[in-house]
Amino acid sequence: MNTYARFPVTLVKGQGSRVWDNAGHVYLDFISGIAVNTLGHAHPAMVAALSDQAATMLHCSNLFHIPKQQQLAEKLVALSGLGSAFFCNSGAEANEAAIKLARKYFYDQGSSRRSVISATQSFHGRLLSTLTATGQDKVKVGFDPLPPGFVHVPLNDIEALQQAVTSQTAAVLLEPLQGEGGVNIAQASYLQAVRRLCDEHGILLMLDEVQTGVGRTGSMFAFEQAGIKPDVLTLAKGLGGGVPIGALLATEKVAASFGPGTHGSTFGGNPLSCSAALTVLDVIESESLLDNVKARGEQLQQGLNALKQRFPVIQDVRGQGLLVGAQLSVDAGPIVTAARDEGLMILLAGPQVLRFLPALNVSEEEVNEALALLASTLEAQA
Ligand SMILES: Cc1ncc(COP(=O)(O)O)c(C=O)c1O
Repeated sequence: MNTYARFPVTLVKGQGSRVWDNAGHVYLDFISGIAVNTLGHAHPAMVAALSDQAATMLHCSNLFHIPKQQQLAEKLVALSGLGSAFFCNSGAEANEAAIKLARKYFYDQGSSRRSVISATQSFHGRLLSTLTATGQDKVKVGFDPLPPGFVHVPLNDIEALQQAVTSQTAAVLLEPLQGEGGVNIAQASYLQAVRRLCDEHGILLMLDEVQTGVGRTGSMFAFEQAGIKPDVLTLAKGLGGGVPIGALLATEKVAASFGPGTHGSTFGGNPLSCSAALTVLDVIESESLLDNVKARGEQLQQGLNALKQRFPVIQDVRGQGLLVGAQLSVDAGPIVTAARDEGLMILLAGPQVLRFLPALNVSEEEVNEALALLASTLEAQA
């Protein structure tokens, strides 16, 4: 079906931070499959782990215990400080599971709390529940009736959130850094105030780290940088490094509301996807990629700020780690196209924001090269 406005390019191969199209053109990849290819393309550890797993067992279903799934759950629990994990196949599924879990948690307590407050400009996925939680009208048009129980407030406005909390509120669902909505940072002080507010009212803080999680912002999870901990956390995108997997993590107390028959997924957490995710997490550690994300992220923001001096079309540079946005005074679409013609793949975050999402192992030289390609793109446009 015609669900995507695709670039007029057919990619056939990738290696590290480079991709090739079917005409033999090579591009520097600062899209990474929309924040998915955490280790770049064809990382030897991924190739080995996936080949090995394919030769052993791809899938067996959750009718059985799955050692790799158990290992992955333990690893994610240790990294996040949360209690247990459920695995699915995408970000939207992880958020759907989070919303179901919040409702079931209060149902189990005999409470009528069911509604979820999320932020305007947020993006939580395209399932009926998650597009309703999404704070952008454009994804909802034509899909009514939408499920009830969703409220939106502006990000970084704690008073608006306070006013929105009622006796029916079950959870607050936020991205610590809005990716699709324009690379908008939730301030640390705001997240801390949200945490306090949730504690005061006994409601759940659920963080959607589908785009920001797994090292993207320079810490394993973006919430660490705000010095808070959520009750519920969702992951997907970068977790599998290109193999579909989503995860829902929650404190033991909250997770206890999911028992056999309450939720499930045929594919979720199968041996192949869990091998991929374990490899991603191992390589982030063994190659000290969080340090690289911080250093390359700073280099990228500094370089973009230097370009801002030369090209007034760039109005603001913001982001965390390797999720970086450049706010333009004009439509960013033509710049994305022109950059691609120069050999640099970047994407949009809303109509006027360029978004940069390189692999977490991108090199200093590659970041410099991307900045040079963007400079020549902007020069040609000026
Ligand atoms: C923050 C966030 N949540 C959820 C989603 C939806 O993920 P998926 O496309 O895997 O369903 C996305 C996708 O862009 C996202 O950025």
